[in-house]
Order: sequence, then structure tokens, then C-alpha cells
Amino acid sequence: RMEGKCPFGGDRIGGAQGSPPTLEAWYPHRLRVEVLHQNGLAADPLGPDFDYAAEFNKIDLAELKRDIKAFLTTSVAWWPSDYGNYGPQMVRMAWHAAGTYRIADGRGGAGTGMQRFAPISSWWDNGNTDKSRRLLQPIKHKYGNALSWADLMVLTGNCALEIMGLPTYGFGGGRLDAWEADNATYWGPEVLDMEKTDDVSKMTARDKRWRGQNGDPDYDLENPLAASHQALIYVNPEGSNGDGDPMGSARDIRITFTRMAMNDEETVALIAGGHAFGKSHGMTPSRDIGPPPEMAPMEAMGLGWHNPRGTGHGKDTMTNGIEGSWTPDPTRWDNSYLENLFRFEWKQTKSPAGSIQWTPEDPDAPKTPDAHVAGQMNPLMMMTTDIALKVDPEYRKVCEKFLADFDAFTQAFSKAWYKLTHRDMGPRHRYLGPEVTIEDGLLWQDPLPERDYDLVGEAEIADLKARIRDTGLSVSDLAFTAFSAASTYRDSDKRGGANGGRLALEPQRSWAVNRRTLPVVEALRGVMAAFNEGRGDGKRVSLADLIVLGGCVAVEQAAGEAGGELRVPFTPGRVDTTQDLTDIEMFTWLKPVADGFRNYVDEGFGEIARGVSPEEMFLDKANLMKLTAPEWTVLTAGLRALGANHDGSQTGIFTDRIGTLSTDFLQNLLSTELEWHKLDDAALTFALVDRETGERRFTASRNDLVFGSNAQLRSICDAYAGRDGEERFRHDFVRVWDKVMMLDRYDVKGHRRHA
Ligand code: HEM
Repeated sequence: RMEGKCPFGGDRIGGAQGSPPTLEAWYPHRLRVEVLHQNGLAADPLGPDFDYAAEFNKIDLAELKRDIKAFLTTSVAWWPSDYGNYGPQMVRMAWHAAGTYRIADGRGGAGTGMQRFAPISSWWDNGNTDKSRRLLQPIKHKYGNALSWADLMVLTGNCALEIMGLPTYGFGGGRLDAWEADNATYWGPEVLDMEKTDDVSKMTARDKRWRGQNGDPDYDLENPLAASHQALIYVNPEGSNGDGDPMGSARDIRITFTRMAMNDEETVALIAGGHAFGKSHGMTPSRDIGPPPEMAPMEAMGLGWHNPRGTGHGKDTMTNGIEGSWTPDPTRWDNSYLENLFRFEWKQTKSPAGSIQWTPEDPDAPKTPDAHVAGQMNPLMMMTTDIALKVDPEYRKVCEKFLADFDAFTQAFSKAWYKLTHRDMGPRHRYLGPEVTIEDGLLWQDPLPERDYDLVGEAEIADLKARIRDTGLSVSDLAFTAFSAASTYRDSDKRGGANGGRLALEPQRSWAVNRRTLPVVEALRGVMAAFNEGRGDGKRVSLADLIVLGGCVAVEQAAGEAGGELRVPFTPGRVDTTQDLTDIEMFTWLKPVADGFRNYVDEGFGEIARGVSPEEMFLDKANLMKLTAPEWTVLTAGLRALGANHDGSQTGIFTDRIGTLSTDFLQNLLSTELEWHKLDDAALTFALVDRETGERRFTASRNDLVFGSNAQLRSICDAYAGRDGEERFRHDFVRVWDKVMMLDRYDVKGHRRHA
């Protein structure tokens, strides 16, 4: 009988797939292994064979730039341009696309077009960048998939700067769009506070991410964050805590821009340069503004921040809340931002929306034309963050330099803009198009010299392998060293990796986790010298290649010991870079705090990581190395079989035949004959004990036991520990080993997303 029931058999009353409570709600501390599979092939409409470089290179970049520039000086009725020029709002869009970058984990940045997705799309600071992207849609469609959103956003920023008179330093294409929201990057606390409130001033609740009070010597921002507040790109324009204090604001600017890998000069160049253009928008109290794109009603079709006042755009536009322009000619590159900042005293005032801002004390100071009302002139405006550049003694010095030398300012802004927008692109082989600037002087590009010798071929590789074997270096040492070189790679900003041979340079060679590589590198140097010296055939081998080849020798031998002859692929072509071309400070950010693969946890881990477990750091590392959950599992099990702990310890080495590529790690991990006891109060180390005899068989860390305690990882272990698992394990280990060695080889990999 259907009476009293919903007439549809499949009714849903309470919720649909994915409605809360989800797993996260029930088990907030479970390890979210599934983040490794984000943005995978299944989410990508272009499929595995789509070759972005091949498509992008078919574009006539000059024609594309003409199209963009022609569009910039038009105006459409649904979102009219200020001053008849979309340039400034596009510069802001591109800056916000790139400005999420943070050096600590390399995440954020313009590289994958993440401004299209929540949470970034819906951050208060990104107000109305949804309009900027929607305005570009016709150009996106004209060029189709040959032009990613990520490239289009940066290129439009460049075109905008160019039509307003700034010579740009270059443009490299090659950014591959992501196809789904990033559900893993840690952007810091506070977002939930924001959701609960319709009062954006609550945004200033920032206590959880900052240590100390502004003014303390140890005042600092939690790592890996770079923004002072949730939902901002950098700092609050009204000052820390929205208090209108320029000195406190300067301090926040320095911390946050340093996290973005910018020094004082670059910071001033960027802020003063960016605010030479456009205006801020604050005509409506912020509580009247509709929800951001991710929370907007369906009929808004992905646009947010509906403004009910007047037309809702043009002269009524409300974006951040501050109102006005910094300069008398906001669509022309000139030095009037700094000139006026320094020529006048500025006093605090409030915008129509109630935000703190500054205006010249002198009533005769120049005025700036209204962006929409012909003939109307408005007072100039500065934000608290702009006044900060004048009051901070170090920023002030840079400002004075730029005030006295406009060409130096122009050059500094161009270069800093190039760095800002290309920072996360990785090796130069990823840069596409005719406007690429590659210079050894640009240290942030982690330069690699051009190879000026011939590559080794099959015969020489066989010879080199024999020479490596003759050194007597152990399988464990060789594998450890190759892995140490390659595993610095992080896919977030494509830095690190074995290419360049930086394992042998500062700072890497001095990291405690790499101590074991020192004698290996020395021995391999000997092999290199003996091979290269006096050759007449023009062929040479690099240390970087030899380190990787040593790993191939080790893995092949270990697979042989396990009864399966396997060939480990080797692709020569890595070059050795120099200490001069290595920015020590910027590479120090790649130093692992914890690295489960090598069973390493930094001595100061507890202090540094505050509340993050080693296995969470391990997952993060696997994610940065672009590994799937099966790859992560197989790689770890194999490294344990090879004996590749950083200190040569027995932790996690559940085997008595080290150097054999066996599944012993998995067998013992899953064994029902063993039980586990923690050895310390913090549960960082464990003993594996024979249930029957009480004999201690092995010791383990959290990085070992997580593969047995976590359900998803345990299932993967099952797949390799069973009757038919051994051979699969060896093959899959070789595949993932090669993947890791090739992570940074964009010189041969090209631009396929799933390569
Ligand atoms: C506009 C803040 C750095 C380029 C704005 C607005 C705010 C702001 C609040 C007004 C948004 C609106 O209401 O429409 C800041 C802060 C910065 C910073 C706090 C760092 C301390 C930069 C940088 C650039 C830049 C580094 C570029 C290199 C622009 C441009 C506009 C703008 C071009 C005008 C947008 C338009 O006319 O629509 N900025 N900004 N800003 N910003 Fe920044």
C-alpha cells in the first residue's frame, strides 16, 4: 500500500550522496588517503593523450594577444569596464591567481587555474574576479582547449599591463588546468567562522594562525600558510585586525610576502606597481552583498556577490569595501602612486561601505576622475597597506629608490610580476611560446645549464652499471641515494628532483636526512671522473644521471635476488648545475620535516609540526610526489625491503634479507601472528612481538604501521601480500621507482597531464 507514503519509490527526504554527515564528520581523525586521487584521469574531459604543448604551440600568440587587448578596451552592459578599460581588474585577477602561492609547500599559485574552484573562487578577497573570468569566456572558447584558463588568466594580466604602458618581462604558457576543486590544501583555520556570519569584519578573527601578538619578537604565522587571514590572498587592506595601523600592517606584509618568496624590493615593486592601476570598490555596506559563487543560487550560474544596490555594477560596484583610486590616471603606468604617497600627508577616513581608508590632508591634492560618471572628480585613496610602505623604514628605502628612478621601478615591477606569475611552473622545459624569458640570473627558476656534450647510449650505460657495481656500494646505499635525490620533487611548484645533481650541493648535502648519501656521492664522483676523462667520442655522464643509474643497479639486483630479473628503465639526460645557480634559502624550504619513505622525522618535529602526525606528513609527501595510494604503498614496502632508512636503522625493516625485493614487509605487517605494542608515550615507535612466544621480532614507526592500520592502505597491502602478489609487487615497484626518478624530467615528458 502506498497510502501515506511518498509515491516515488526512490524518494530522498534527508539527503543525497555526499550530504553530511560524511566520513569526515564521523571520524575527523581518519587519514584521508583518497586525497591522492584528486584531479585524476577520471575527472579530466580531455583524456590521457591530450598534449597541451602540441595544442598551445598551434596558437598564434600575437593574434591571441591582439584579441585580448581589443577586448580589454571594450565594455559590456552586464559588467561595464571602469574608465572604459578592463585592464586593472584583469591585473588584479591575475595577481590573485598567482598570489595564493606559498613557498613552504609550493601549493597555491596560478599554475592550474584554481581560482575557478572553491574555496578560492569564493574567498572574500576574490570578490568579482568571477566577473573577470566570465568576461574572458568568449576568448577562451575561441581558442578552445589549446588555451587553458590558467594560461589565459596570466596572459590577460600581461596584456593589460602592456596596454597601460608597462613593458612586461615575458610570458610562458604551459599551465594545465585542474578539473576539480582541491579538497586537501590546508588554508588555515577560520573559514567556518566566516560561514556562520554575514558580517565580513569577522574575517579579522585570525588568532589561530598567528603566534604571539603583533609587536612580539617571535610574532609569526603558522606554516605552511602565507595569507594573514583565511579568505584573503595576502593581508587585510585595513591593517592587521582591521585596525588601520600601518606599522602593524607592514609587519604582516613582510611575513606574508616572504612566504610568497618575495624580498622587500620585490614586495614594494609589486604593491606600488599594482596599485598604479585601477580602483577599489566600496559603494555598498558589505552585509547587503549576496553569497559568493559557491553558495549562490542556481540561477546565478556560478557568479556570486550579487549587489542589489542600483545597477549592482558600474558606479555602484562593491567589491572589497574600500572606495577610490590611488592615482590621477588609473589606466596608465606612471610613478604617481609613489609621488602622491610621499608628497602628501594622509588621514584616515571611511568609505561609503564603512571600510578604513586614507585620503590626502591637503584639499588641493590632485583628484582622480570617476570611473563611470563623466566630469566627476574624486579624492585620491590609499589603503592602510599602502601607507605601510611609507612608514616601514626598509620599505621606505625601496620606495625612495623607485621614486628617484622610475626606470628601476619599471624594471623591478616587470621582473617581480614575471616571477609572481611563473613562480610555480618548474623547469624551463615547461615554459611554452615565443615570449619566454629564461635567464641564469633568475635564480627562482632553479636554473639548469644546457648540456654541451653527447648523451651516453646503451653500450656506455652497460659499462657504467658495471663500474657502479665494482665500487662495492651496497644495494641499500645506492637505492637510498637515488631516492634521496629524486624525492625532493614536489608537484605543487614542480621544484626539486634529481635533475641538476643538487643532492651534492648546499643545502641538500648538509641535511641530516641525506647524511647517508655523502660517501655514495663521493664514490659516484669517482666513477664519473674515470668515465669522462680523456674520452674522444664527445660523450659524458653527469653526476645527476649516475646517482639515478646507481638506483637502477640497486633495484635490478634486488629484484634478481627475489627471483625475478627485471629491467629498470633509465633515461639519461640530467645535467649537473652549480652552487651559484642554487638559491640556498629557497632550497631550504624543500628540506623534509618528516619523510616516511626514509623513516625520517626531524628532531624538532613535535615543535615544528604542532598537532600534525608523522603519517599525515607522509601522506602530504606522497601527494606532493604525485603518487596514488597503491604507488605509495608499493614504494614504501619496496624501500623497506631495500633497507633504505635514513639512518640505516632496523625500524620498519620487517625482513632478514635486506636487499631482496620481497614482500616481507607486507607479510609481517599483516601477520596475525604478531601483535604491536607502543614503545613510547607519544606512540611514535612500536615493537612487533610474536603472540605465542612473546619474542620481539621487529620495531616500527607510525610510518610503517599506518599501512596496516588504515583500511584503504591495508586493502592495498592485501592485494600484494596474497598468493599472486609477489610478481605484481616487483613489477609495480619498478614502475613507481621509474616514475619517481622521472618526476622532474619535463625535458622528455612534455605536457601531458597524466604522464
Ligand atoms: C585592487 C588590496 C597588492 C593589483 C585592490 C583592492 C584591494 C587591494 C582591497 C580593491 C579591490 C576592489 O574593491 O575592487 C591589496 C593588498 C595588497 C595588494 C592588501 C598587498 C598588501 C597588490 C599587488 C597587485 C595588485 C601585488 C599587482 C601586482 C591591484 C589592482 C587593483 C587592486 C590592479 C585594481 C583592480 C580594479 O581596478 O578593479 N587591491 N592589493 N594589488 N590591486 Fe591590490
